[in-house]
Amino acid sequence: MGTIHAKTSRPYDIVIGQGILGQCGDAVKELFPEGQTVIVTDDNVEPLYLETLKRSFQRCEIECVAFIIPNGEESKSTDIYTELLEFLAKRNMTKSDFITALGGGVVGDLAGFAAASYLRGIPYIQIPTTLLAAVDSSIGGKTAINLSGGKNLVGAFHQPSLVWCDYTTHETMDPLRYADGIAEIVKYAVLKGGDLFTLLEKENLYKHVEEIIEECVRLKLSIVSEDEFDTGKRQFLNLGHTLGHAIEARSRFDISHGHAVACGMTAMADVAALNGLADYDCSDRIGKVLKRYGLPTKMPYDYRELIPYIKNDKKRRGNKIKLIIPENIGRCRMISLPVKDLDSFFRT
Ligand SMILES: NC(=O)c1ccc[n+]([C@@H]2O[C@H](COP(=O)([O-])OP(=O)(O)OC[C@H]3O[C@@H](n4cnc5c(N)ncnc54)[C@H](O)[C@@H]3O)[C@@H](O)[C@H]2O)c1
Repeated sequence: MGTIHAKTSRPYDIVIGQGILGQCGDAVKELFPEGQTVIVTDDNVEPLYLETLKRSFQRCEIECVAFIIPNGEESKSTDIYTELLEFLAKRNMTKSDFITALGGGVVGDLAGFAAASYLRGIPYIQIPTTLLAAVDSSIGGKTAINLSGGKNLVGAFHQPSLVWCDYTTHETMDPLRYADGIAEIVKYAVLKGGDLFTLLEKENLYKHVEEIIEECVRLKLSIVSEDEFDTGKRQFLNLGHTLGHAIEARSRFDISHGHAVACGMTAMADVAALNGLADYDCSDRIGKVLKRYGLPTKMPYDYRELIPYIKNDKKRRGNKIKLIIPENIGRCRMISLPVKDLDSFFRT
């Protein structure tokens, strides 16, 4: 078991280990000696892990009750968000109480946004049960829900008080959903380069899971602690995400986040090479690694179909949109492209 300390505006610990879910009650009780909690989870995770968590909380005399949402991206909706807020109010939750997000990125983003906005902010903790949530969404305090116009269009920055990651919970995941997490790991490896990318290219990722989760968490934290509110360096974490979010929204969320990011990352590398901004070798290596883990690399839609969604992206500022270009493994660049040039940029 290892602990990493996040030095953000609200500092917190990220505890990563094997089989540690049932031990989190003690750490939580120390943080919230008087607090009750609402555990937000989904209907896949509930039968697998809710009981273990509840027993750990009850043993430490933490009063808890569950709010269970349907699994899937559709649950990051204004309707479910409102239901959750009403539930918190009925439980008379106060600022000394906290929300517990037990699940993947969907649960974490929704529960985090409810925590950010209910009573203008109450604490929450993250217990990521997917690989993607462990390496990415549970860290860094971005919370959001979707609107019909696009992904994550309403949200807030709100750091958790604790992230408790028991990666043995990932063993029950559907392999396709597990691969979603690998797509985010490939993103970190493209940003960082060096040993992490080589490990993904040559070794068996499954034998190095704890080390990889820790490395991704450290990398994300090093970026987030420099730019918590996403005005500069943090935007590099959006590599593959501008196209990825557009693909997800265009597919009406039939294509999952990680799979869409995989397509988005390869497409950006290809388009960048075609525009003379990157080496062809880079898109080749990214594509090979993604394929190695069963991830898609082909664009499922014509770029023209995605442009309306790209224009709605929250990274747009006025008439410009920021794009992260992988120039080579370990070397990415941010460009600001006029929205009017999107069509020609992508159809080079
Ligand atoms: N806030 C951020 O910084 C950030 C970063 C990246 C992604 N995200 C968001 O995260 C979401 C994707 O997260 P995700 O891939 O974890 O999706 P998810 O939460 O939908 O989980 C994927 C599926 O796995 C199931 N599941 C979860 N844990 C399981 C387990 N241990 N065993 C079996 N099944 C399990 C879920 O029920 C779901 O069906 C997207 O909404 C994306 O926008 C947020």
